[in-house]
Amino acid sequence: MATVGYGIYSYQSNTQLETEKTQLSASLSSTTASLALALKEKTDLVNTLQAAANKNKDFADQLTQATETVDKLQWMNMLDPQLLQKYSKVYFLSENYVPRELSPIDSKYLYTPDRSLDIEDRVLPFLQKMFQAASDDNVAIKIDSAYRSFGTQATLKSNYIVKYGSGANSFSAEQGYSEHQLGTALDFTTPTIGGSLTGFEKTAAYAWLNDNAYKYGFILSYPPNNAYYIFEPWHWRFIGIELATKLHDENKHFYDLDQREISTYLGNMYETATSSVSQ
Ligand code: DAL
Ligand code: ZN
Repeated sequence: MATVGYGIYSYQSNTQLETEKTQLSASLSSTTASLALALKEKTDLVNTLQAAANKNKDFADQLTQATETVDKLQWMNMLDPQLLQKYSKVYFLSENYVPRELSPIDSKYLYTPDRSLDIEDRVLPFLQKMFQAASDDNVAIKIDSAYRSFGTQATLKSNYIVKYGSGANSFSAEQGYSEHQLGTALDFTTPTIGGSLTGFEKTAAYAWLNDNAYKYGFILSYPPNNAYYIFEPWHWRFIGIELATKLHDENKHFYDLDQREISTYLGNMYETATSSVSQ
């Protein structure tokens, strides 16, 4: 009897176990399904967050780009396209044109120290470095002329016309056509030639400038046999180190180049070094 009872009990117990097993299995399936759902939700969330982060990064990149563009535009706006134009009987500067900012040149660089001569402000550091380098090489260079206003050029030219007649046209620009009105051109001399301009080509200063001026952004505007004026060994113009170095390396002169090509150097005009030359 006890055996039968045990059998019944055992049968009931097995049935219960089966039921519990089925329930557990169902519960496990349901938990697995919930976990899978949670996992999917988590993956979706991660993807959404990643997409949001990417969007933020894109936005930040766009913002950086926009800022750089504005900076560049502001910088370009501060650059004066006139500064790299070919003057010399080619382009005309109006009587109202004055450089953006002029600075006085230190009297120690002037042939006549008590005269006051100005230069375009951002060219001044290049001039100072060049004069320092010349002085380190024991070469004396002095400045005879720098910025000349439209009015000053007009007076100078008419005085030359009185003295030399139409011959003055071979060495003196009409008002509005002089590189000196830009504030970036200089006439050099030395004590050895008594402060005159003629004979400058025979000085150590001229030889030194020919070898070194480009490293500081200066070039000879009117070499022998140029199309505009007589050979003017004393007259040098600042165009920036990059363009001056290119002209030096290619053995070319400023007026040999196309204006469109020259103008591409405007943005780098005040760079202090090129890849091939360092100061
Ligand atoms: N001597 C140069 C040409 C000038 O007058 O600008
Ligand atoms: Zn000059």
